[in-house]
Amino acid sequence: MEMETSILVEGLTKTFDGKPALSNVSFHVERGEVFGYLGPNGAGKSTTIKILSGLLEQTSGRAVIDGLDNKRERVEIKKRIGVVPETSNLYPELSVYDNLRFVSRLYQVPRAAREEKIGSLLDMFGLKDYRNRGFGKLSKGLKRRVVLAAALVHDPDIVFLDEPTSGLDIMSARNLRKMIQGFKQEGVTVFLTTHYIEEAEELCDRVAILVGGRIVKVGTPGELEALVRETPILEASLKASNPLGIQLFEGLPADEVTLQGDKVRVYTSDVSEAIYALSQLSKRHGFEITEINTLQPSLEEAFVKLTGLSSEEMRSEKEGKP
Ligand SMILES: Nc1ncnc2c1ncn2[C@@H]1O[C@H](COP(=O)(O)OP(=O)(O)OP(=O)(O)O)[C@@H](O)[C@H]1O
Ligand SMILES: [Mg+2]
Repeated sequence: MEMETSILVEGLTKTFDGKPALSNVSFHVERGEVFGYLGPNGAGKSTTIKILSGLLEQTSGRAVIDGLDNKRERVEIKKRIGVVPETSNLYPELSVYDNLRFVSRLYQVPRAAREEKIGSLLDMFGLKDYRNRGFGKLSKGLKRRVVLAAALVHDPDIVFLDEPTSGLDIMSARNLRKMIQGFKQEGVTVFLTTHYIEEAEELCDRVAILVGGRIVKVGTPGELEALVRETPILEASLKASNPLGIQLFEGLPADEVTLQGDKVRVYTSDVSEAIYALSQLSKRHGFEITEINTLQPSLEEAFVKLTGLSSEEMRSEKEGKP
């Protein structure tokens, strides 16, 4: 199959009041690809989607969507993309059906196709029973489904999903994941942001990891895993009467050491040497090693190694959000 670039981003930079939210971000997405944009709170995920979908302008750099320049051809781009923003963009006082109808008229979906399209979307998202319900009166998860349906009324070439499964129950999230895989078969490009590593691993052909407005890495889930596969990871659970500082472990024979709560992770090519050194440390500093494991590398390991943030950390940050 011939590859065709769907999204091209070069040196994208965005500052808010002089503070950089995105710094020199570059990546490309092929047509029909599911591209994951993974990063913690404040990484710049939503800012990127807003720029690519024409809600914000970059400070510098270039973005090309479906061959169109995001600054000069904004209107044409809007016709070809569907966007599911972080927070709903629909009318609370209108019913589910009226919202979808409104959006389909906005996008100039031909009148003849409109009813059928809305019907099939209501079906697909399990919204038939809520057709005449006021959007504002729906639960969070149902609202999310309607917003998703609304992003698809005009059969977009590219779909931008900003944390699509957040707020969905397990069943709806599963359905959505199935649907995202279905897009692929139709040649629809999917750009999705997430802070769920497993979601990126399951759904995405390639993943970009964004931290502090910078791309740390772009690759397939397999490539990111390979980064850590070369280096075994030793994880030890420690028990100490006083909190342990990371500096304690600096002398270990390792590429990198991270400390999360009572767990220390040692990225090392010499596991037995590391175990020995760790036990020496425990004697010298009076802490106990309660458990020791070597870890199977996963995308999560790659992420931890690349960013120094754990997925638990990302998730708890996220769920602490109002
Ligand atoms: N309109 C704005 N004005 C000023 N600062 C902003 C604005 N929008 C975003 N920022 C800042 O830009 C940075 C990136 O924000 P962004 O919303 O893109 O992050 P995110 O990766 O989507 O985070 P989250 O996971 O919380 O959704 C943050 O530091 C944020 O405070
Ligand atoms: Mg966001």
